[in-house]
Amino acid sequence: MKKSLMFVFSILIIASMVLGACAKTEAPAEAPAAGEKLAVGIVLPTKDEPRWIQDETRFKDALQKAGHSVEILFSQGDSAKEKQNVETLISKGVKVLIICPHDSTAAAASAEAARAAGVKVVSYDRLITDTDAVDYYVTFDSVSVGAAQGQYLVDHAEGKGNPLYLYAGAASDNNAFLFFEGAWNVLQPKIADGTFVIKNSPEAVALQDKATLTRDEMGKIIGQITTNWDFNVAKTLAESNLTAAAAADKGKVFILAPNDGTARAIADAFAADTAVTKYFVTGQDAEVASVQYIIDGKQSMTVLKDVRTLVSDAIKAAVAFLEGKKPEETTTYNNGVIDVPAKPSAVVSVDKANVKAAIVDSGYYKADQFTGLEEGATELGPVLKIGQIGMMSGSMALYGLQQQRGFELGLEYMSGGKKDDQGRWIIANRPVEVIVKDDEGNPEKAVALALELIEKDGVELLQGPVSSASAAALTTVALENKIILMVDPAASYFTTGKYFNPYVFRTARTSFDDTLIIAKYLVENVGPTFAHIGVDNAFGQASGAALKYSVEKFGGELVADIYAPFETTDFTPYIQQAMDSGAENLFLTWSGTGYVTLFQGLSDMGALDTMTVGTGFGDNASFTAVFGEDVLGTVGLNVYHYTAADNAVNNWLVEHHVAKYKDAPDGAINAYPDLFTAGGMASAIALATALEKTGGDTSGEAMIPALEGLIFEGPKGTYHIRPEDHVCEQPMNILKLVNLNPDLDGDGINEYRFFETIYVSKYNELGVPCTLEGEYAARCGSLPTLGQ
Ligand code: BGC
Repeated sequence: MKKSLMFVFSILIIASMVLGACAKTEAPAEAPAAGEKLAVGIVLPTKDEPRWIQDETRFKDALQKAGHSVEILFSQGDSAKEKQNVETLISKGVKVLIICPHDSTAAAASAEAARAAGVKVVSYDRLITDTDAVDYYVTFDSVSVGAAQGQYLVDHAEGKGNPLYLYAGAASDNNAFLFFEGAWNVLQPKIADGTFVIKNSPEAVALQDKATLTRDEMGKIIGQITTNWDFNVAKTLAESNLTAAAAADKGKVFILAPNDGTARAIADAFAADTAVTKYFVTGQDAEVASVQYIIDGKQSMTVLKDVRTLVSDAIKAAVAFLEGKKPEETTTYNNGVIDVPAKPSAVVSVDKANVKAAIVDSGYYKADQFTGLEEGATELGPVLKIGQIGMMSGSMALYGLQQQRGFELGLEYMSGGKKDDQGRWIIANRPVEVIVKDDEGNPEKAVALALELIEKDGVELLQGPVSSASAAALTTVALENKIILMVDPAASYFTTGKYFNPYVFRTARTSFDDTLIIAKYLVENVGPTFAHIGVDNAFGQASGAALKYSVEKFGGELVADIYAPFETTDFTPYIQQAMDSGAENLFLTWSGTGYVTLFQGLSDMGALDTMTVGTGFGDNASFTAVFGEDVLGTVGLNVYHYTAADNAVNNWLVEHHVAKYKDAPDGAINAYPDLFTAGGMASAIALATALEKTGGDTSGEAMIPALEGLIFEGPKGTYHIRPEDHVCEQPMNILKLVNLNPDLDGDGINEYRFFETIYVSKYNELGVPCTLEGEYAARCGSLPTLGQ
C-alpha cells in the first residue's frame, strides 16, 4: 500500500474514534507504522494560554491512537515566527496546513506561501483574513459563544441599573469581533431598556442605542476594552476600571469577560475590591483552572467549545483534501476577500449547575483534575415532565412507536448515560420523565390530552404529534399555555407557517423538504411535468402546495393536483385523472396503510409504465407490502434511513436501538431505527441542548432564544433551527430501491438493506420557503417565500 493511502486510511479511523466512543471502528486493513510522519502540519498561536495546550493535547491524543505523529509548532504570539513555522512545514513536504493564526491579517502571507507551494490551508478556530489563500475554516459558532455569555448575564440580572463592565479579546483576532457581536446582540436591548448600565467604556455608551454595530464601531469599543488575550493586560485594565469607578458603580456587578484566562484575571481583580459585593463573570474554553473556579464559585460560567470536535473536524478536512475531495460545508465566513467554506460547531454554556454533567460526566476532563466537585455539585433539580403526543394505535401506530423510541434514545444520548435512582435520564441536572399519550390522530383529542398533561400532570414541554391536523391544533395550546411544542414527525409546513407562534418549534422536516428534493431530482433526470395524488387532509394539501412550489422552482409544471379521502379503498378514478393529464411524473403523498392499495391500483392500471412515480420511501416495516418487484430500480426521496446517514450520532442510534430492541417482542421487524426514529431523537437532542443552555429552565423566555438559530448534530447529520420561522433545516435523501428482501443475511432480524444512496442534501441546500402569515409575515426577513 502506498504511503499516502495508508495515511488517509488511518486518519479516517482516527476521525471515527474522535467522533465518539460509540462510533463503529473497523480494523485497518494493514497496521499503520507507529511514529510515521503524516503529510499534515499544525501551527498553533501560543503555549502561554492553556486553551492552545488543550488543542495540542487533543490533536496528539487523536493522532497517537493510530500510532502516528504530526508536527505541531507554536508561534508564541509572533507573526514572524508563525511564518517561519509555516515555511518549515512546507519544506518538510506537508500537503495540508492546519493553522490557527496569531494575527488574522498578518497570517495572510503565510497562507499565500502555503498556497504557492500547493499546500491546502485549513484555518483553525481563528479565520485568516484578507487573502483568497484559505481553503477551509474549522470553527465553533463564535457569534453564539458571545451570545451565550451575554445571555448568562441577562438571565442573572434583576431590576434596572445593574453595573456592566465589558471586556474583549485582541483586535487582531477576527473571533474577538464575532464574540463581541454575539454578546452585543443579546446585551444591547437590555442596556437600552435600563437593565444594565455600562461603566467602563464611553465608546460603548455612545453606541448603546444601536442594535447592530458595524465592524468599525465594534473596533472602537474593542479598542477601549481589549485584553489583547493577555491575562496581565486584563488584570491591569480591570484594576484601573475599578479605581476610576465610584462606589455606586460597584455592589453587585456584571462582567462580560471574553475567555477563561482573562475571566480569571478580571475576577481576581473584582474579588479584591471590597466595594464589590457580588460579581457575575463570563468566560469560554472550559480551561481546567476555570472549571475549578466555577466549582469554587469564583467564575460564573464558561462556554465549552469541545476541542475534540474541532480536532476531529480538522482531521476530517485534511483527509478530504488529501483524497482530492472537499470537506463538508454548512456555511461560509467572509474573510474580506472570499467566502471561506466552513462547518461551525455548536457550543455549550456551563455554570455550577451543570459543570459536573457537561465537563466530567461527558468525559471531557477527569474528575480527579478537580477538587470539591462532589460537594460543589448541586442536588438534582426537580423532575422535568415532558408530554409526548403520538399516534400509538390505528393506521399510523408504527410512526408513534418510532417517535417514542427515538425520543427516549435521544434523551439517553444527551444525558451521557446519566440517570437518577429511578432510571430517569438527567438533562440539565433534571431527571426527565416522558408521559406518552395516544391522540389516535384526532385533533380534538390531541388538544384535550395536551391540556390534561399541562394542567394535571404538570408537563413543562410538549413533543409530537404524528398527525399534521393534531399538530396544527396543538399550536394554540402551546401559545395559550406559553409552553414549547417541539413538532415531530408531523410534516405539514402549516405549523411553522400559517399556524405559527413563537412557542412552536419542529425537528420534523416540512412537506417542502420532501417535494424540493424529489422535484429537483425528477426535473433534472426525467422531465418537467407533474401530477400529484394526495390524501385529502392537512398533510396532503400542504404537500400539494409544496410540490407546486418545488416543481416550479426547478423549472417544471404541476399539471394535475388530485386529492382523495383518507378512507379511499378504490383509487381508480384518481389514478385515471392523473394518467389523463399526460404528466411525465406522478408524485404521491399518502400516509398510513392506504398506500398499499394505492400502489396496487397504479400497478394494475399500468400507471407505473407510463409515468415515473416519485414518492417517499416510507417506513421499513410496511415497505414490502407497498413496493413489489416491479418497482426495483425506482428512485425516491426519503426522510431518514439508517443506511443513508453516515455520522457518529447515527452510529450511536443504530447500535443502541438494535441492542435495546432486538430481543423485544417486535424485535424481528423493529430492531433497527426506522423512518421517524431519527425525528424523535432529533427532538430530544434539540430540546436537551436548549435545556443545557437555559440551565433547565423550560419557560418560553429562556427556551425560545436557546432554540432559535440552534445548529446541532443529530442522526441525519447537521440540523439548523431557523430563528425566523423555526423551520428545522436538515439533510434529505434520494435513494434507489435495489433489494426487497428485508432480511438479507437471514438471521431472523430484518435489517432492511433496501437502498443504495444516490444523494444526501445538506441542511441548507434546498431553500425551504418561509410561509409565515399575518402578524408574523415580517419575520421571514430575507428567507425565500412562496411568492418568490
Ligand atoms: C479563541 C478562544 C481563545 C482566544 C484567546 C480565540 O480566537 O477562539 O478560544 O480563548 O482566542 O486565545
